[in-house]
Amino acid sequence: MSKKPVTKPSDPETTGHSWDGIEEFNNPLPRWWLWTFYATIVWAIGYTIAYPAWPLISAATPGLLGHSTRADVAADIARYEAANAPVEAKLVAADLTAIASDPELANYTRNAGGAVFRTWCAQCHGSGAAGAKGYPNLLDNDWLWGGTIEDIHATISHGIRNTTDADARYSQMPAFGVDGLLEPEQIGQVVQYVLQISGQGHDAALAGEGAVVFADNCAACHAEDGTGDRLQGAPNLTDAIWLFGGDQAALTETVTNARFGVMPSWADRLSEAEIRAAAAYVHQLGGGE
Ligand code: HEC
Ligand code: HEC
Repeated sequence: MSKKPVTKPSDPETTGHSWDGIEEFNNPLPRWWLWTFYATIVWAIGYTIAYPAWPLISAATPGLLGHSTRADVAADIARYEAANAPVEAKLVAADLTAIASDPELANYTRNAGGAVFRTWCAQCHGSGAAGAKGYPNLLDNDWLWGGTIEDIHATISHGIRNTTDADARYSQMPAFGVDGLLEPEQIGQVVQYVLQISGQGHDAALAGEGAVVFADNCAACHAEDGTGDRLQGAPNLTDAIWLFGGDQAALTETVTNARFGVMPSWADRLSEAEIRAAAAYVHQLGGGE
């Protein structure tokens, strides 16, 4: 069988290699491409010598230039901390009540306190501090434990009903239903009374009975008139602001099972300057006293 060459005159020359009659065109890479390729190899070798490159067991090769993004960040943080040190020292030394009237401290705490809030508080109190069920709204002027800057500072420093801080704010509403302190009938009555004093629709006869139950069982903490007691964190029941809900079902649940809102203590996690910044931030959000 005769083999006819299949190449055309316009084809490039062949390399002379032949495999079973299949020949290879001599198509070298373009010079510029080849040199660029060599240049990238040289550059890569240089790079791995100069910069951190090869991963080893616990770290990468450090590189001759000693560059480290981690060190860059640490240096940036150190620079900001050094820049903030004077104002933080002033903040820690200042009288809490003087912070709002000092423009430098007011400005600093608005920014730094806002940052602390977004990092540590927003997951419970909401990014806008408007709260949620069980987590109080910090924007209004309704305070469980007090709305002066000293009160807020103490709440943040030690937290509420936690087991980690001996100075945490503490109080406990009895679980009137599950502990059998009140009959279901009495709970129904006192709930109607709470509906009444909070200005909601209610059954007047039951509420009348409930007033007696309230005076005997609730007034010690929530006050005779139901306006609450900040020393015990007992909410005002006459405003329309509810921590756990103000309809009949929610009130019945609260009186039956009680509630036990817990907030962590921050004194061992945040610096005094951060706590003061957060306190001033919360205080100026709108409802500070
Ligand atoms: C794990 C959830 C949680 C986190 C995080 C948290 N809180 Fe609270 N906070 C609560 C709860 C729950 C209450 C209400 C406790 C109660 O029922 O009395 C509360 C109450 C408060 C109060 C008292 C409000 C009042 O009406 O007296 C302030 C002020 C407060 N928090 C500020 C903060 C700040 C500032 C931070 C961040 C540094 C923070 N909280 C982080 C859960 C949290
Ligand atoms: C020993 C003190 C104490 C007594 C007695 C007490 N409470 Fe409370 N009550 C509290 C505290 C403290 C809270 C807040 C609990 C929390 O924040 O976790 C509370 C919360 C509530 C709430 C929730 C308010 C809201 O905003 O969601 C209602 C409703 C309530 N109490 C009704 C009553 C009624 C009705 C009685 C009487 C049958 C009563 N309490 C007796 C301390 C008390």
